[in-house]
Amino acid sequence: MLAPGGEVENSSPLAQIALDSLALYPDFVAELKDISDLSIDYQRRGSVEIALNEAEAEALERRAIAQLAIGIHSESHHYEGSLSARFFPDDQLVSPRDVTAALRVACLRAGVSIREHEPVVEILDDGAGVRTEHCEYRGDGVLIAAGAWSSSLWSGLPATMPVRGHLIAYRPDRELLGPILRHGQTYLVQRSNGTLIAGSSTECVGFDRTIDERIVNEIHCRASSLFPELGSLGPAERWNGFRPRVEGGMPVVGHIEGTAIWTAFGHYRNGILLAPETARIIAESVLSVA
Ligand code: GLY
Repeated sequence: MLAPGGEVENSSPLAQIALDSLALYPDFVAELKDISDLSIDYQRRGSVEIALNEAEAEALERRAIAQLAIGIHSESHHYEGSLSARFFPDDQLVSPRDVTAALRVACLRAGVSIREHEPVVEILDDGAGVRTEHCEYRGDGVLIAAGAWSSSLWSGLPATMPVRGHLIAYRPDRELLGPILRHGQTYLVQRSNGTLIAGSSTECVGFDRTIDERIVNEIHCRASSLFPELGSLGPAERWNGFRPRVEGGMPVVGHIEGTAIWTAFGHYRNGILLAPETARIIAESVLSVA
């Protein structure tokens, strides 16, 4: 999801980066498609958030007023069965799998050498390279962009906490959803290929990758209650991931003075949304330090 409408509540540095990054998305996707020759599921469908009781309706209205002040537009919307709803026309969705696949090809075509399944165990000499389990790689600098694992790579970085989230996917045989649909902690997104994804959970369980069927079932119940057509479909796929959270919620993006080390981590729930703006900030910083 590229959805500041659901993720950003008030004016903050994070809100500004989120909006700047969203604005970069159309060109970012176009360039990636062009370079990689791969398709990317990127849809500008907007999102609908519903309220089912008075308290939720008031909170949604209050949020909409605060959001308008920072440039996030929404309009009152009719959604069958809800007490009130708002439509956020600028929210978008992109497939993170498509973006990652295209980025991989774009990097390879630009001459980048990718080493997978070879975790970095140490950064050498203030950024002169890295040591992995197998060997050393030397270069002009190091960018720490290791998600929830980042802070373990260099002392003095803000601690990163993994916050596990489960997602489930359905495979309906037709298009069911228009815009992204949200209620509270539940969201539904349908990809162009029909796959409908429901999320999510927020769990502080360390780096435990176990799929918790109780949580899968709970998300399925919430998704079916939000969109009853899903009740007859069982989840076809389930997975989890670790959102990298840092105290204060602001991603750690920039240069570590006195070193050849840059950082780009701590994006918590919005890593995909914040990717283009993060890349822009890092590229600018690298060029100014070099
Ligand atoms: N980006 C949505 C989530 O983290 O659940």
